[in-house]
Amino acid sequence: MKKIISFIALLSIVASASAIANPVESEKQAKAAIQFRQAILQLVRSNMGPMGAMAKGDIPYDSEVMMVNSQRIEQLGLMMEDYFAADTRAFDLETGAKDNIWTNQEDFNKKAENMVMAAIQVQEVASAGMTDDYRKSIGALGATCKACHDDYKKD
Ligand code: HEC
Repeated sequence: MKKIISFIALLSIVASASAIANPVESEKQAKAAIQFRQAILQLVRSNMGPMGAMAKGDIPYDSEVMMVNSQRIEQLGLMMEDYFAADTRAFDLETGAKDNIWTNQEDFNKKAENMVMAAIQVQEVASAGMTDDYRKSIGALGATCKACHDDYKKD
């Protein structure tokens, strides 16, 4: 039993270590880090777009699109913690990221996790063919974007 507990403790230390802010060392690194994280969010946007249109009724319900696009958002969301660990605050570069990301990393990562959980929920609704709930589940996913942007993205 003791062995199991210490193994779990070790795992959680390893997991939390990856969330520690990691200041970039040069402007070149900072530029690359900003490009990479913005690329993730551009892909999130590209996958959210059709689902948003579906929730609004602009395009017809399509469970396949919901499934594929929310799986992609799930995967992209899982990358956010790592790609935002690079602390770029020391460089005066154009970015929509607020400085407080790196003083509230735990909360920021929690908000990314909320997006992942909401994306998984969309998959569940799509695979069950729950046509009554699809707008609600897409709306809940969209709310996780806003929740993070309100605190951590410049207007
Ligand atoms: C955990 C926080 C978080 C979540 C969740 C989140 N975003 Fe963002 N988003 C950010 C931050 C921070 C930036 C600014 C990044 C930068 O400019 O360095 C950003 C930037 C963006 C951008 C602009 C990217 C660019 O090229 O400048 C788009 C588009 C975007 N987010 C869409 C979304 C959508 C759509 C969702 C939800 C499906 C979402 N985001 C969820 C934090 C988040």
